[in-house]
Amino acid sequence: MSGSLRSSQWYSGDDRNAYIHRAWMRRGVPGDFSGRPQIAIANTASDLTPCNAHLNEVAQSVRNGVYEGGGIPLELPVVSLGETQVRPTAMLWRNMAAMATEEMLRANPIDGVVLLGGCDKTIPALLMAAASVDLPAIVVPGGPMLTGHFRGRPLGCGTDVWRLSEEVRAGEIDESEFRRSESSMIRSKGHCNTMGTASTMALVAEALGTVLPGLAGTPAPDARLLEAAHDSGRFAVELVAEGRTPSSFLTKASFHNAIVALAAIGGSTNAVVHLLAIAGRLGVDLTLDDFDRIGADVPLLVNLLPAGVHLMDDLHRAGGFLAVLREVKDLLDPSALTITGRPLVDHLDDARIWDADVITPRDSPLQPSAGIAVLRGSLAPGGAIIKPAAASPRLLKHRGRAVVFSSIEDLHARLDDPGLVVDEDSVLVLRGCGPKGYPGMPEVSNMPLPRKLLERGVRDMVRICDGRMSGTAYGTVVLHVTPEAAAGGPLALVRDGDWISLDVRARRLDLEVSEAELATRVVDAETSDGFAKPRRGWERLYVDHVQQADTGADLDFLVGSSGPAVSRESH
Ligand code: FES
Repeated sequence: MSGSLRSSQWYSGDDRNAYIHRAWMRRGVPGDFSGRPQIAIANTASDLTPCNAHLNEVAQSVRNGVYEGGGIPLELPVVSLGETQVRPTAMLWRNMAAMATEEMLRANPIDGVVLLGGCDKTIPALLMAAASVDLPAIVVPGGPMLTGHFRGRPLGCGTDVWRLSEEVRAGEIDESEFRRSESSMIRSKGHCNTMGTASTMALVAEALGTVLPGLAGTPAPDARLLEAAHDSGRFAVELVAEGRTPSSFLTKASFHNAIVALAAIGGSTNAVVHLLAIAGRLGVDLTLDDFDRIGADVPLLVNLLPAGVHLMDDLHRAGGFLAVLREVKDLLDPSALTITGRPLVDHLDDARIWDADVITPRDSPLQPSAGIAVLRGSLAPGGAIIKPAAASPRLLKHRGRAVVFSSIEDLHARLDDPGLVVDEDSVLVLRGCGPKGYPGMPEVSNMPLPRKLLERGVRDMVRICDGRMSGTAYGTVVLHVTPEAAAGGPLALVRDGDWISLDVRARRLDLEVSEAELATRVVDAETSDGFAKPRRGWERLYVDHVQQADTGADLDFLVGSSGPAVSRESH
């Protein structure tokens, strides 16, 4: 096989460069190493990404599998993003992580890659990179943590942080109790145990076909994760032999299946921007409206927080992701292939539901239609999304007066002001949180409610924002408003007291202000000050080139693929 290997461009021949490439790599590897498939292990393990800190152990199992398959494992530490640690928001760095990973895969003598991710942005960034470099690639999701408990109650990380902090603000629990719950929140290694973005993207990666079927959702401490990591390493060598690159099997049909899965699991809205970005790298014609068209009427079958009550280890125990897919098999595209070379639907026959309270059968879904609704109208000409399953049914058709916050700092400064003119029918508007405006599109759209309304028992209101929302959050939240305020969207011109109407059934979001009146308005100083351009570095590059949420918030010059070719020798 060596002659056909990409790495042979580095290693074969008798010239000085080939000598150098080989000689420096002879550090205890087998003597015939240069003729074997070189398999990178793109590893996002980092102490600063606590959800991925265990991936070095997973990488060791991958290494063993690669050797067993006849390849040479090569660990490649890549940019890692810890959702809870990175400021101002991990999303600002997703494209950087993708770009850096893509470039390092291309620059090195690598034939295939095993992608180790977990925490929210890591699997999307790795898949974007793999799509653009187009080398055979397989994802090993790091898996969710085990569920912790506090005072007898299971804790869903993320969701229960929001819940407990709202209970403190509503005076239902005191701060010392809130603080005591902290040590129970993260019970084990692994990523968040709710159906947040990490869980969603691991499962969606499997629905796309980039994970060995049945692996995604395996809890991080479960011995079966290491077994599957070993198998994935061995399989990566086969992928190289077969030349199965991402572009050879990831098609519109794969994304169709990902959207069906996203709805059936009640997955995170963040999957929308990530899937659009991955599709953009592949040249797959995926649009925002595909999420509504394909997913809106898919039933919700997974009873996990935030839409339900259980957690990720329950899903695994109850039959796992393939049992969910089996229930919606008729909605899947049978033509979509996986890395196994076989269609996704071929891997579902053995799946079973073992706990129908966690995975509900198709004929008794948690909700009959669970997908993401795409809204358009005068307030969101380029589109906005809402997750109706996480919203209050009474608010899905609503008309109210705007209460506007020009930035997240403005919101925090004024939200609990007793003098704030707001009631439960108001529509909270937060701008300056889009890709350019923040910059980085943070997860702030599920803004907290004013304290005085919380104390009156109000638990949900219509909220509208150009940012994202944590996959662990809930509420009647319209997010990803496009164009964002900083890109000239009408959101920048909304004023306190304007009427806004939301009609999810009609897929409308409208600002009831005439175009003539809007033409006379100028962006207020506080809003425009918030969009001051960063002067240098990645932020500058990002703000100059980031696209809007409706196409995945990728950088304009990163869309598409450059493939694996490097035209010049090393000098
Ligand atoms: Fe890493 Fe939630 S913080 S997955």
